[in-house]
Amino acid sequence: MVDRRNFIKASVAGAVLPAAQLTQNTLASTSAEQVFPVLNIGTLAEVESQNVIEFSYPDSASPAILIRLEEAATGGIGPNNSIVAYSRLCTHKGCPVGYRPGRQLLICPCHWSTFDPARAGTMVIGQASQSLPQVMLRLDEDVIQAYGVTGLIYGRQTNII
Ligand code: FES
Repeated sequence: MVDRRNFIKASVAGAVLPAAQLTQNTLASTSAEQVFPVLNIGTLAEVESQNVIEFSYPDSASPAILIRLEEAATGGIGPNNSIVAYSRLCTHKGCPVGYRPGRQLLICPCHWSTFDPARAGTMVIGQASQSLPQVMLRLDEDVIQAYGVTGLIYGRQTNII
């Protein structure tokens, strides 16, 4: 017969163990589902001449922007590690941010949240509470490819839907 003390011990152990397993399984399946497409955005020469390229990633409902900055940037690629890309959807309420080359910042026109593309999209000032999701870039010869997103794109429960 189980006395009150052992019943409570067994109940607590039974309650904690499945919860821990559930968390591990949930995280594993979540990361397994995040298989991003590889997208050719443009060439180094195109970025050299334009400085900014707008595209969509990881799907057509997710506007993004590629920028060649004047300085090396966190996660930057290219000759000076200065090419970066971000989701354009502001983490406050989802308005599309725009790039201001003079200030080297991404600014939301709705409530003026401002993000630093050289510092992993960190919010400088404004209403947002999270950094702008950064699109992970790599080079295939001279072609710039997107291959993932760090951070959660506004309005989504997972970046891949
Ligand atoms: S939607 Fe961008 S600051 Fe509010």
